[in-house]
Amino acid sequence: MGREIALTGIKPTGTPHLGNYLGAIKPALKLAQDYEARYFIADYHSLNSIKEPELLRGYTHEIAACWLACGLDPDRTLIYRQSDIPETFELATMLMAFTPKGLMNRAHAYKAQVDLNREKHKPEDHNINMGLYTYPVLMAADILLFDTNYVPVGKDQVQHIEMAVDIAQAVNRNYKAPLLTEPEAFVSEHTQIIPGLDGRKMSKSYGNTIPLFAPEKKLKKFCNKIVTNSQDVEESKDPDTCNVFRLYKLFASEQEQAALAARYRAGGMGWGEAKAELFRVLNTVISPMRERYDALMAEPSRIDEILKEGGLKARALAGRKIENLRQAMGF
Ligand code: TRP
Repeated sequence: MGREIALTGIKPTGTPHLGNYLGAIKPALKLAQDYEARYFIADYHSLNSIKEPELLRGYTHEIAACWLACGLDPDRTLIYRQSDIPETFELATMLMAFTPKGLMNRAHAYKAQVDLNREKHKPEDHNINMGLYTYPVLMAADILLFDTNYVPVGKDQVQHIEMAVDIAQAVNRNYKAPLLTEPEAFVSEHTQIIPGLDGRKMSKSYGNTIPLFAPEKKLKKFCNKIVTNSQDVEESKDPDTCNVFRLYKLFASEQEQAALAARYRAGGMGWGEAKAELFRVLNTVISPMRERYDALMAEPSRIDEILKEGGLKARALAGRKIENLRQAMGF
């Protein structure tokens, strides 16, 4: 009781990359120090796109191992699988009755798919399942089930949180009681500025990511793939417009940054050297986490155990909430 609640869902749809770490994982773990934090794996959200069981299971383990390796303490922060909380799906069904269809028509993720279909001269509904269409309702259920105050998310998810607020208000208005807590998005400003290999935002959809837990050799290869200009070794270089340096800044200490910037400006340093220095700093930060990650991934049953325990604790909370709502709604 007392502490405010921070909750977020992580969709297992790919291997965690540096952008996820800086943009989502690190800020969420920091937030977990000050809030009652609940971080879950949104596996039902992934089902909309991932239909191969081995893939879904694999990504789920990777994501959970990743958060644990990065410092999530399961004794302090709830970590669970969405699919272990059936109350989520009951609440989602309840919320459907309060969600105008027009609200879903406006959801960005759905609209983007419709636009893509139009562009390709396909029928509007091509490739759109009801899971995608009603995505914001399931997400609202995730959030509202736990009386969430703050939802740490990237900018792209803010609309979904606003929809959760709309839906909560519709319920509260109808029953003339504050049954559901109105959540607030907590946007980390890092999210948009983490550059990928080509300098655009690091994102799975651009294929420009650096996996967080690639083995050392691979990590080195990824660093070497970062796009730079074609200046010669001798030339003086501008750190502020360089993709290598932009990433370096996010991981290096102030002194290291100043030292490398000076080497850029002095000339006589080739891109290979800058990339090697980026690799060194990245690897120093990542190595201890990678060790924990590898140990967990070698023992997936341990991961399952942790998720299961978290699920049991989360269900106890969810059960009470659903019971309240059932009462209020007349079931
Ligand atoms: N939609 C989020 C994403 O794609 C994942 C998610 C699902 C989520 N349920 C949530 C995030 C609840 C915050 C709260 O990243």
